[in-house]
Amino acid sequence: MKNIHNCAIIIAGASGDLAKRKLIPALDALYKQGKICNNIAVIGTGRSNFTNEQFRSSFAISDDFASHLHYYKNTAGIKQFIEALGQFSKIVIFLSLPPSAYAVAAKEFADERFEQQVSIVIEKPFGYDYASAKLLNSQLAEYYDESQILRIDHYLAKEAVQNIMVFRYGNTVFNPVWNSHYVESIQINAIEQLTIIERAGYFDKSGIIRDMVQNHLLQLLALLTMEAPVTLNPHDVKMQKICLLNSIKIEEIHRYQYDTYRGENGVDSESTTETFAEIRLSINNMRWAGIPVYIRTGKAVHRKGTEIGVRFKAPPKVLFNENGDIPANQIIFKIQPAEGIVLDIATKTPGADEQISPTYMNFCYNQNFTGNNPEAYQKLLFDALRGDHTLFVSAEETETAWKLFEGKLDRGDVVHYTTGKLPQSKFDIRWIDFDYYANFCA
Ligand code: BG6
Repeated sequence: MKNIHNCAIIIAGASGDLAKRKLIPALDALYKQGKICNNIAVIGTGRSNFTNEQFRSSFAISDDFASHLHYYKNTAGIKQFIEALGQFSKIVIFLSLPPSAYAVAAKEFADERFEQQVSIVIEKPFGYDYASAKLLNSQLAEYYDESQILRIDHYLAKEAVQNIMVFRYGNTVFNPVWNSHYVESIQINAIEQLTIIERAGYFDKSGIIRDMVQNHLLQLLALLTMEAPVTLNPHDVKMQKICLLNSIKIEEIHRYQYDTYRGENGVDSESTTETFAEIRLSINNMRWAGIPVYIRTGKAVHRKGTEIGVRFKAPPKVLFNENGDIPANQIIFKIQPAEGIVLDIATKTPGADEQISPTYMNFCYNQNFTGNNPEAYQKLLFDALRGDHTLFVSAEETETAWKLFEGKLDRGDVVHYTTGKLPQSKFDIRWIDFDYYANFCA
C-alpha cells in the first residue's frame, strides 16, 4: 500500500464533533502507522478564532502529528495560506459541516482555484429525498467532476461488510444457491440501544428510514444480492449495485416511535418522526423475483446489533422431515458488534434414532484473525487521500436509492413502543431470532 505524501488536507468545520471524535484521531492513527508521512499539512477551517496552538491542543494526539496541524479562519485566501505552508501535489477537502452548508462551501473552495489535484469528501445525508439529492449533486457538479467527489457511507468500510463480496464470489459453494430457487427470504436487522441522544435537530427532521435505510442498509442489500461485477474496479461494482437498486420496489412500510421520544430535548412535542421502521421490499429481477426482503431498524431497543439473515427453503417433507419440523438452513452475517458468519445446519442427534438437532458452523473474526480491525474512518480517510472510490457512493447510487422512497416517506401512522424493547412486528412472518445469534463470536 503506497504511503500518502505531499498532501494538504482541509477539514472544513474543524471545531465540530466529527473532527474531534473521528477525523483527527483517524489521521493521527494513519500518521503513526506511517501511512501518511512526509510533507503533510492538515488545515482546519471554520468561523471560530483559533491560533495554531489552540487548535492543536484541542485534540488528544501525538506532538509530532500535532505539528502538522494548522488553523485558518474562513475560506477566502486559503490558497495562499497553503502555498505558504509548502508545496503539495494534492488537496483533499473534508466537509465536516451541516449538509445545508455543502453547496456553499463547495463553491467557496472552488473559487480558490487551487492548481493541484483536488477532491472533496462529504458525509451523509446526501439530500433529504430524491429531489434534494438531485439538487445537491447538480450543485456539486457545477464545480467538481464526479471523480473528485467522495460520498462517505461508513458501513462500506466495515470489515464484515467488505467480506460479503468475498463470501459470495470467493466460495464456489454458495453461488449456485444464491437465488429464488433456494432462498425463502432475506432479513436485515440493524438495531441500536441508544436513543437519538443530542441529535434531535437532525433526527426529528429525518427519521430512521432516511437515517439508516436509504443509505447503509440498501448498500448492504445491494452487496448481498447484486450480480457479480466484471472486475473489482469501483466503477464496475457501482454499476452492479445501481442495477440491483433499480430493480427494488418498496412494498410496505411500518413506522414506530419510542414512547419517550417526544419528550427528548429538541424534539417537537407532536412529532410523528419514526425512530424504528419495518420494511418489506421486493427485488424484481431474474435472480430474486418472488423472494421477500424484510428490513427492520431502529433506536432505543434492547441491544445494538447489525445482522443479515438469508433463510433457505425448508427441506421437503420426506425421510426424517415427514412432519416438516426440520428448521430451514440459515446464513447469518454478523456485521457488528461481534463479527462473523453463522451457518445453521440440521444434524442427527447422537444416539437417538431419527432425531435431528439444529447445529451451527461458524466463522468468527476474533477466533480466526488476530489484531484489531482498523476503525472505519481510518480506512475511509486513507482511501479518500489516495483517491480510491471503492468505499464511496456515487451520485447515481444515492439518487437511485432515494427514488425508491418517492411518495413513501413520512406516510402512515406512527405506533409507539416501549423504550428498550422491540416493537411488536406488523409483519406476519417468522423473524429470524437474531438475538440468539448475537451471542456467537462475542
Ligand atoms: C449513522 C446514523 O449514519 O449511523 C446514526 O446517522 C446511526 O443514527 C449510525 O446511529 C450507526 O452506525 P454504526 O456504525 O454505529 O452502526
